[in-house]
Amino acid sequence: MSVTEETVLEWAKDYADKSPSEILELALENFDNLAISFSGAEDVVLVDMAAKLKKDIRVFTLDTGRLHPETYRFLDKVRDKYGINVEVTFPEVEAVQKLVDEKGLFSFYKDDHKECCTIRKVGPLRKKLSTLEAWVTGQRKDQSPDTRLEIPVAQVDHGFSTPDNMLVKFNPIAEWTSKDVWEYIRANDVPYNELHEKGFTSIGCEPCTRAILPNQHEREGRWWWEEATQKECGLHAINVEK
Ligand code: ADX
Ligand code: SF4
Repeated sequence: MSVTEETVLEWAKDYADKSPSEILELALENFDNLAISFSGAEDVVLVDMAAKLKKDIRVFTLDTGRLHPETYRFLDKVRDKYGINVEVTFPEVEAVQKLVDEKGLFSFYKDDHKECCTIRKVGPLRKKLSTLEAWVTGQRKDQSPDTRLEIPVAQVDHGFSTPDNMLVKFNPIAEWTSKDVWEYIRANDVPYNELHEKGFTSIGCEPCTRAILPNQHEREGRWWWEEATQKECGLHAINVEK
């Protein structure tokens, strides 16, 4: 079956109330050339679910060069537990070199995070996605009332499609809450990043993520020196391009 934008819109409607595992199954059945984007945080639930559906799943992570040591350790733990190659994607050396030469290692505290995220995350993501027909993310609506409230379970990724490649994006846990995710982790004995035991909920790069206090929103520890409405880094450009 050739997948058109209409098909994807139908999936979004028909699968809105289905379980994450059913949405993953739909994705895996329709695309051989698909990979799960894994941040090294609680989105590990997708790796666990997919590994139960298919043997040779593909998982990639964007190594910005600025992740926590705990996250690096966790990535290898996941690799070993599920017997998969977590495809680690690196930024372009020249672009990082230029940024650091011109502005130092912590320019994001002064200039905001966009420039660094573009070089260390978005560029490498674009390169990776240009080799795929579909990708899977662990975005959830409850992560951000400002930017993620309208995430469908399946969508054409207009942010990263090219004239030659219509890229499809699946968000199987869009409807899940943080509570659902953690119930799944506990019930299925899924490994998790040690940072979660140290007060971290949402986990990104080390200089741009901090632990949160009780009752703070889960993304308050991300880019905490900036406005809540700006807490997207460009990986999910279509969330903010409406
Ligand atoms: S971010 O845009 O703020 O950095 P967030 O941490 O909420 O994203 O994660 C949402 C989803 O984006 C993750 O479940 C994952 O699919 C993808 N993602 C985020 N960071 C990475 C990363 N470093 N590598 C691969 N995928 C990532
Ligand atoms: Fe750079 Fe911070 Fe963005 Fe990581 S989260 S790429 S360190 S600005």
